[in-house]
Amino acid sequence: MSQDEFTQKAEEWDSNPERQRIADEFAAEVEKAVDFMPESEVLDFGCGTGLVGLRFGKRVKTLYALDTSEAMLGMLGAKLENEDFGNVQVIPKTLHEADFPAESLDAIFTSMAMHHVEGLPEVLELMAKLLKKSGKLVIGELLPEDGSFHGDNIVPFNGFEPDYLAGLVCEAGFSSVQHHEHGIYNKPDKEGVMHQYATFILVGEK
Ligand SMILES: C[S@@+](CC[C@H](N)C(=O)[O-])C[C@H]1O[C@@H](n2cnc3c(N)ncnc32)[C@H](O)[C@@H]1O
Repeated sequence: MSQDEFTQKAEEWDSNPERQRIADEFAAEVEKAVDFMPESEVLDFGCGTGLVGLRFGKRVKTLYALDTSEAMLGMLGAKLENEDFGNVQVIPKTLHEADFPAESLDAIFTSMAMHHVEGLPEVLELMAKLLKKSGKLVIGELLPEDGSFHGDNIVPFNGFEPDYLAGLVCEAGFSSVQHHEHGIYNKPDKEGVMHQYATFILVGEK
């Protein structure tokens, strides 16, 4: 993996209390949607440093922590060396590279990663293929924003209209898709002026 936009951010990622709060609130939504069982195989897509996924590691058979950022996974690896989080398998790859068997996952959850993904329809199609029947996809994302969330960085999506993302998820092969507005992400710009970004949750069932 090469340098990525998270290389500069990884080291201080977990020390931002707002990120911790967003992860806590998203995890509560994941809890509502997913039955974590000792035999479950679940995927945290775009897991970053593991802020969301690690809390579920001891409740499942396998927590797959997949991300393309070497720096973010470096921080995750340091946590895994220091504490037992259960059966966590770190996957430093894209979903297409990861080579999961079809219909092998019980749930996929992903917080604030989808707006970074190129080729999103194909990734959603693959997610549908990898989930077992009735498997759940839980997405935490930004509502449309003016591009300021990432400062000078360009990302594929400046947030999403929930109905647009729901349409992509349906087309990818999910039978039921619901979404609701969730909360506010507070983030300062480079001048230190605080901005508020609204978030939503989308849950798809295969
Ligand atoms: C905003 S961070 C969120 C990290 C974590 N989910 C959290 O809530 O703290 C987005 C993450 O998605 C990862 N990412 C971006 N595009 C990706 C892709 N195509 N496949 C896997 N991970 C990706 C980035 O490397 C980054 O770690």
